[in-house]
Amino acid sequence: FSLTDPASPWLVVNKHRPLVPAAYVPADLVQPAVTMTASGEAALLNRTTAAAAEAMFAAAARDGVAMVLASGYRSYTTQVATYNSYVAARGQADADTASARPGYSEHQTGWVFDISDGNGACGFQPCFADQPSAVWAKANGHRFGFVVRYPWMFHPITGYYYEPWHLRYIGVEAATDMVARGIFTLEEYFGAEAAPGYP
Ligand code: DAL
Ligand code: ZN
Repeated sequence: FSLTDPASPWLVVNKHRPLVPAAYVPADLVQPAVTMTASGEAALLNRTTAAAAEAMFAAAARDGVAMVLASGYRSYTTQVATYNSYVAARGQADADTASARPGYSEHQTGWVFDISDGNGACGFQPCFADQPSAVWAKANGHRFGFVVRYPWMFHPITGYYYEPWHLRYIGVEAATDMVARGIFTLEEYFGAEAAPGYP
C-alpha cells in the first residue's frame, strides 16, 4: 500500500508529511455501530476502520471492557478550530506536542479514533493509559488492525506526547507484525524519517 495516499491504510502523516491534498475528505465515511459519545462528523470513520472498530469493541465487551468512541473523523475546518483552541489555551509550542496543525492530522483521514472508558475516567489525560479500555486496546488492538499511534516516550520520532487513546488502523497483518518485531512507531516500521517538529 501507498505511504502517501490518504486513502491507504499505510499512510504515514506526521509533521514532515502533510496530507495531500490538505483538505482531503475520505469518500467512504460511515458511522460504526459502537458505543460512542462522539456526534456529528466525529462519529464517522472510513468504511474499513469502522468495520474493524465494530469487531474490536465487540471483543472488548466480551472481555468485560467498556470501550467508547470519543472522537473519530475531523474535517480540515474542524482541525483549524481544534488546533487554534490548543494554541489559545497553551501557546503554540505546547499545542504542537498534542494537536496536529490543520492538514497534518490523522483524524482527517478516517483511519483513526480516540477512545474513552465507559465512565469517561481520565479522558484525554495521561492517566488514561491505566484505564481498562486503554490497557486492553494496547494489548489487543493489533488483532483488529490497530496500533497506539503515539506511544510513551516516542515523541522524538512521532512529534506527539503519549496518547493512549488514539488508535490508528493499519491492517491486521502490519499491526501484528509490528508487535512481533517490537516496533512501536509507523515512522520506524515504514521507514519514514523521524518528525519531532515542523520543518
Ligand atoms: N492529537 C493528534 C496528534 C491530532 O491532533 O491528530
Ligand atoms: Zn486522536
